[in-house]
Amino acid sequence: SDDEIVNITYITRDGTHKKIRGKVGDNAMYLAHRYDIEVEGACEASLACCTCHVYVDEEYFDKIPEPKEEEEDMLDLAPVLKPNSRLSCQIILKKDLEGMTLTLPRITRNFYVDGHVPEPH
Ligand code: FES
Repeated sequence: SDDEIVNITYITRDGTHKKIRGKVGDNAMYLAHRYDIEVEGACEASLACCTCHVYVDEEYFDKIPEPKEEEEDMLDLAPVLKPNSRLSCQIILKKDLEGMTLTLPRITRNFYVDGHVPEPH
């Protein structure tokens, strides 16, 4: 039913606003994958990477439950951490997140702006 619908927007790395439609209980990262938005999610939501890093709209940030300690630890590894940083795999949609915008960072640990991944050394 419409009560279940939660519309959110992802701003992708090239600045495109992608409006997508989820429902209460959806995981924001997996929802993005369903719409081919390039959120990585290398560890499949097991809090063992930080490639699903996003910035949350200020006005919605406090509506998301506080991060677990494991999420905080992972966020510490994210390049370009900001006060409104979260891991998208830990954001579960609910009705009061209707209209939220999530912005992808310019870089994550695995993805560089030009798509070049440095060789391991
Ligand atoms: Fe790895 Fe979110 S997918 S921490």
